Amino acid sequence: MTEPLLSIRGLDVSYPTSKGPAHILTKVDLTVEPGAAVGLVGESGSGKSTLALALLGLLPENAEISASHAVFDGRTGVLSAANSSALRGRDIAMVFQDPMTALNPLFTIGTHLVDIQRRKFPGAKTAELWARGERVLARVGVSDAGNRMRRYPHEFSGGMRQRVVIAMALLVEPKMLIADEPTTALDATIEAQVVDILRELRSELSAALLVVSHSFGLIAELCETVIVMYAGTIVETGPVGEVLRDPRHPYAQALLACEIEPLSSIEKNEPLVTIPGTVPDPVNRPIGCVFAARCPARHERCTEPPPFISQGQGRGFSCWLGVSP
Ligand SMILES: Nc1ncnc2c1ncn2[C@@H]1O[C@H](COP(=O)(O)OP(=O)(O)OP(=O)(O)O)[C@@H](O)[C@H]1O
Ligand SMILES: [Mg+2]
Repeated sequence: MTEPLLSIRGLDVSYPTSKGPAHILTKVDLTVEPGAAVGLVGESGSGKSTLALALLGLLPENAEISASHAVFDGRTGVLSAANSSALRGRDIAMVFQDPMTALNPLFTIGTHLVDIQRRKFPGAKTAELWARGERVLARVGVSDAGNRMRRYPHEFSGGMRQRVVIAMALLVEPKMLIADEPTTALDATIEAQVVDILRELRSELSAALLVVSHSFGLIAELCETVIVMYAGTIVETGPVGEVLRDPRHPYAQALLACEIEPLSSIEKNEPLVTIPGTVPDPVNRPIGCVFAARCPARHERCTEPPPFISQGQGRGFSCWLGVSP
């Protein structure tokens, strides 16, 4: 059996506040096999971006980060800023929600595509890197790539910019590509095109993919495995088809219902499905199950932390419902 590309155990991230530490991630485990595509899903504030940024060493300096085990590609210490910066743009590449965060308005697209390759291929000639950049830009669906290389980011539409950022990520031939809400800023048609590009590239890429999204639909299009996060903890994991067909954790069930049912609610003129209540305050996370206050199935045992019920083949969920009384 091959070693996982990424293996994180017991990741905690907190920030000091005047009221005490704000616990953003609690005992998060994450394993990504080489070439695998894993999706992280959860509502806003569940800690998805925090996890992605922790892997890149991009959390703010005041973040307190600890993990019992953290290995990327056989190397320990991946979560430290110094180690991660050595990996960024070489072994791990990132596509953010807003492509402008990765693009400098003062530089041409060609300059971006050349510069991104310099760390990985320090000895290569500029003309070589330019030609390679142009090829990959065409590959991600930017027509007339030769001319577009000499244009500036503001001359591109949102969808085209996201294609440029995807091209930048591909040019470094990373071992892992992290995409955090890669289509949220795009309208539905362009979103579908960007998803198609990512899906096509999946079959060509040897890189592992970690996709962060609030949408099960996007994860299902791109990934084999899904991790459902709530309030900084993992509540369910498994093959994406199985979790969609039969979510076991009440939060995963509720999240899926919110995504699937809006259209039928509109048709029937019923109120939209929502999950009642709010995410617990990170400074005062409950000792027991983090979802209990909003859970329709809660009972006395939920005041204690639920066990993670492993069902084999990566499938599992963290809920007392899985334990016989
Ligand atoms: N620098 C920080 N200091 C304190 N709290 C922070 C900081 N950054 C993020 N948080 C908190 O961490 C929690 C998780 O945030 P995060 O951005 O990881 O969520 P997310 O799941 O990516 O949400 P979204 O879907 O909205 O992008 C939020 O409650 C947020 O307020
Ligand atoms: Mg986020």
